Order: sequence, then C-alpha cells, then structure tokens
Amino acid sequence: MNVDPVPAIPTPDPCQWLDELSTAVLVTDARLRLLAVNSAAEVLLGLSRDRVVGGHLGQWLRLDLNLSKQLQQALNDKQSVSLRGRSLRPLRAPEFLADLMISPLHGEHSEDRLLLEMTATDRHQRITREDQLRQQQAITRAVTRGLAHEIKNPLGGLRGAAQLLASDLDDPSLREYTQIIIREADRLRSLVDRMLGPSNMPRREPVNVHEVMEHVRGLVSVQLPLGLRITADYDPSIPDVLVDRDMLVQALLNLVQNAIQALGDHGEIRLMSRILRQYTISGQRHRLVARLRVRDNGPGIPEEIRERIFFPMVTGRASGTGLGLPIAQSLMQLNHGLIECRSRPGRTDFDVLLPLENTA
Ligand SMILES: Nc1ncnc2c1ncn2[C@@H]1O[C@H](COP(=O)(O)OP(=O)(O)OP(=O)(O)O)[C@@H](O)[C@H]1O
Ligand SMILES: [Mg+2]
Repeated sequence: MNVDPVPAIPTPDPCQWLDELSTAVLVTDARLRLLAVNSAAEVLLGLSRDRVVGGHLGQWLRLDLNLSKQLQQALNDKQSVSLRGRSLRPLRAPEFLADLMISPLHGEHSEDRLLLEMTATDRHQRITREDQLRQQQAITRAVTRGLAHEIKNPLGGLRGAAQLLASDLDDPSLREYTQIIIREADRLRSLVDRMLGPSNMPRREPVNVHEVMEHVRGLVSVQLPLGLRITADYDPSIPDVLVDRDMLVQALLNLVQNAIQALGDHGEIRLMSRILRQYTISGQRHRLVARLRVRDNGPGIPEEIRERIFFPMVTGRASGTGLGLPIAQSLMQLNHGLIECRSRPGRTDFDVLLPLENTA
C-alpha cells in the first residue's frame, strides 16, 4: 500500500512574526549591545538592522542617567521594569513618548540578555486625532453638499434671468450690470464646485512618484522668485505606487503652492520621499507606506488656525479661499492615503502618505 508522505510543515521564521508587531522590540546583551531589532524598532529609532546589530544601544538611543540606571536595575535584580509615558530620544529619529517594558532574559547556559518593548503612545494620539479629523471632515462634507445644492439651483435661475434681461436692454451701461451678475454667479458656482471637491472616482494605476514630484517641481519652477529654491531628496528604492496620477499631481501642487506663498521671496522647499514600515492610515495598518514630504523653512502655519487647516474656508492669507488643503486631503483619501502636517516656525512638513501594498 502506498502511503503519501506527510508534507513537511514549513517552520515560520520567528523574526518575521516580530516584524508584524506594532510594538518596537529590541534585544541586547548584558553590555547593552544590540542582538536583534524588529521592523517597528527600526522605524521608531531610525536605524537599519543590517548595520546596528552588535553596536551599543547608546549609539542609537540617548541613554540618560535615569534610563541607564533602570536598564542596569532590571539586569541586577532580575526583574522587569515598566515605565509609562517615558520620553525617548533616538539619535537618528524624532523624540517620542512611549510605554517601555524592560525584561531581563536569563539563559541557563547563555549570557543574560535584556528585552526592551516600546509602544509609542504619541502614535496612538495621532490615530485618535486622525479619527477625529475624518469624522469632522465627513460632517463638513455632508453640510457642504447640502448647502451647495441649495446655492447652485437658485444661482442657475439668477444667471438665466440676467441673460434674458441683458438681451432686452438697449442701454449698454445697464448691460454692464447684468454682466456683473453673470460673472459673479459664475464665480460663485466655481467656488461651490471647488468646495464640493473631486467628483470623479480615482483611476488608480502604478505611478512613479518621483516622476510626479519632478513634474510638480517643473510646473512651479517657472514662476519661482529668485531667492526661492526647490531641492529634492528621494529614496530611489520606493516602488511604483497605486494612485490616480492627476490627483497626486494636484495634491502635491496645492502643498507646494502653499509653501511658496508662505516663503515669499526667500527660502527653501524640499521635496522628500521615504518608506515607512508598519504605518496606520485610516485605521488600517500597512506594512509599507510611501511618505512624500513637502518641507519648507518658512514661518510656519499661524497657530490660531493650525488645528483647522484641513477644513474648507480656513485661510491665513488675505487672498486665500482656504480650499487647497481640504481638496488635497480628499484627493489623497480617495486613494486610500492621507495628508499629515507638522509645523513650527522655520520648519513645516506636509506628508502625503500612500500605502505601498495592501494591509499587513
Ligand atoms: N507651508 C505652509 N506654511 C505656512 N502656512 C501654511 C502652509 N500651508 C498652508 N498654510 C496655511 O494654511 C492655510 C490654508 O491653506 P489652504 O491651501 O487650504 O488655503 P489657501 O492657501 O489659504 O487658499 P487656496 O489654496 O484655496 O488658494 C493657508 O492660508 C496658510 O495660512
Ligand atoms: Mg492653498
């Protein structure tokens, strides 16, 4: 009798599972030399595991007296130490707040080790803020749609009546008034259309984001003041992104135009691209996300509007309509992406985040 061989069960690589965690995990030896890091730790500390293993933890994370003491204590007392809301300062990534768990690992035959687990708590705040932003935007969209409908219908009647009136008027100076009515009705209509945002569904296709960024750079370069520079800093390893190209161009253009307006005659705009790992957009965690950044060294977003800039009609400029950012945001959300912003005087970053593949 033939017996089918039992198929071999593939052994999963434990490190691969660690990479699925949103918690940053690091393992060091007793002298705090790194033995292993997962993807989330790479992102939080701005390191690349190929290069760090074997190096001292202090080369990547500022170990103040307090933190050094707690690491040592965990090793000496053979007991875990848990720290909540601790501010951590990586040397190559932005500072962040984290809940930190330090656990000693004791091997019978091997040297003692330390397991560090870091959960960035400000990331949670970011996600809560993003949820609020999405809800508020949904409400604004509903109100805008209702209002737009109410405005557009009578506006059509108004325009038609002005046209009829114009055809019956012999006096050209009076016809000038009907022209004003028609012109202003048209202006209002296009304003309402812009407020309504994109009406087409996106046509998502693989797009080379650097080609798009260079295209946007070319578009604005023609009208750039002499003292204003646009530089580029791209990560060439970013693969094509599934996105509607025209929508991406429009969104980036809105961001770059804002930066130009904020800078005036002098300053630098930097177009940057990077890959982020394990990033959450609209409640969905993605293994890889492309971050396209428009950075400027201008005065920053005025504080009084900083929290509301993605709402329609919020503007800090006398001639602004306050629609550029909400439109850019809707365009990217239609493409499963998101725009985030950080701003302080001297540095404003607008990040377009687009998933590079489906959820993790
Ligand atoms: N890079 C930036 N630096 C400083 N402030 C900015 C920057 N980008 C946006 N802002 C502020 O955010 C406001 C809203 O921007 P948004 O693009 O939505 O509208 P707008 O530029 O005022 O008008 P519109 O884009 O409709 O012509 C701006 O008026 C400006 O005050
Ligand atoms: Mg604008």
